[in-house]
Amino acid sequence: MTSVAGKRIVLGVSGGIAAYKAVEICRRLMDSGAHVIPVLTKGATRFVGRATFDALASEPVQMSLFDEDDPIPHTTLGQTADCVLVAPATARVIGAYAAGISSDLLTATLIATRAPVVICPAMHTEMWEHPAVADNIATLVKRGVSIVGPESGRLAGGDEGAGRLSSPADIVAAVDRVLDSTGRRLDMAGLSVVVTAGGTREPIDPVRYIGNRSSGKQGYAFAEEAAARGAKVTIITTVDRPGPLGTTVVSGITVVRVNTAEEMAAATAEAAKEADVVIMAAAVADFRPVDPAGVKIKKRDGVPAIQLEPTPDILAGLGASKPEGQILVGFAAETCEVADNAAAKLSGKGADYIVANDVAAENVGFAYDTNEVTVLASDGRVRPVGMRSKRQVAQAVLDLVMGDRDASEENQ
Ligand code: C5P
Repeated sequence: MTSVAGKRIVLGVSGGIAAYKAVEICRRLMDSGAHVIPVLTKGATRFVGRATFDALASEPVQMSLFDEDDPIPHTTLGQTADCVLVAPATARVIGAYAAGISSDLLTATLIATRAPVVICPAMHTEMWEHPAVADNIATLVKRGVSIVGPESGRLAGGDEGAGRLSSPADIVAAVDRVLDSTGRRLDMAGLSVVVTAGGTREPIDPVRYIGNRSSGKQGYAFAEEAAARGAKVTIITTVDRPGPLGTTVVSGITVVRVNTAEEMAAATAEAAKEADVVIMAAAVADFRPVDPAGVKIKKRDGVPAIQLEPTPDILAGLGASKPEGQILVGFAAETCEVADNAAAKLSGKGADYIVANDVAAENVGFAYDTNEVTVLASDGRVRPVGMRSKRQVAQAVLDLVMGDRDASEENQ
């Protein structure tokens, strides 16, 4: 465990019985060389004394938004932290953070920070399973917050169930992983990456098209993750960047807009010539009308018989003419027999990896902010990536791809 060493970690402790375990977390972080700044809520001090953290941590406990020495302690804490860890996180703190409400120093710091945040919930099973808490957790996951636990086990008052704080060792390991992945962000510097995104639109007439439900969120998440890791990225997309920005301008990323499979094929073939990594996240329509009408088809003319023909298979084309060393990642959005279909695509399309997801499952695939995928590699390895935000899925897939690339370079 090395990534926490030398890092400024705000340790938020909120008012649950598990607060006593935060003492052990503090000690472990200190032992690993972290600089720990404890921030306690008023509730936390009902369970554990300030003096304990004062004695163990790198700095004295902070609790108040209105510090005498620093007029804005939450901004100072938020801006200077390398990570904000909340353990235990109560339903109140989780709810306030999800809703953007800053009622005390800890919640204000969570909202003021741009550093990675790790939330470790602990509460009674009834509270953990309440839809409000579940929704708040889902919101935080979508925003890229890491959630650790809770686990099932004995709870306060002798009850058994989900809601127990994860072990201090697991929590410190999770913080280490989060900091490790942030530290490795520039591992794609100098690489050229092409990503396709969105669903293609195959015209029936000037107004109507055959399309699909792809939102482009996973493709943009790949483009942004690769750019954040230093790559030069071109995204070939049928859609604007989804989300509040609603713009095609994404910093460090060249956006090429296309509509049809034919247009996407041409733009991708051109961009892929020089690419080190090609990620085919687009949902390309497999069929298109043979002869789209030049003017809008009128209802009064009856139901049109639309004859379809196959579109070019972009991924298979790239796979067949792949330059030496290029890494080709395809996708398989399936509704049944996911693993078999994905494995068939992997060999059939000449890809190095297939990222498979079951789009019939809940919270997975098109339009959602979360995804759950399995990555199949051409050497037979199968790596499941559990439910997480699309950005975190992109991160996990690129971690795997870059890890393999580094290993094969070392072997040469
Ligand atoms: O065969 P299927 O369409 O399900 O394969 C999915 C993968 O192939 C995706 O990576 C998708 O972007 C790509 N694809 C393609 N050209 C097509 C159809 C799919 O590149 N015409």
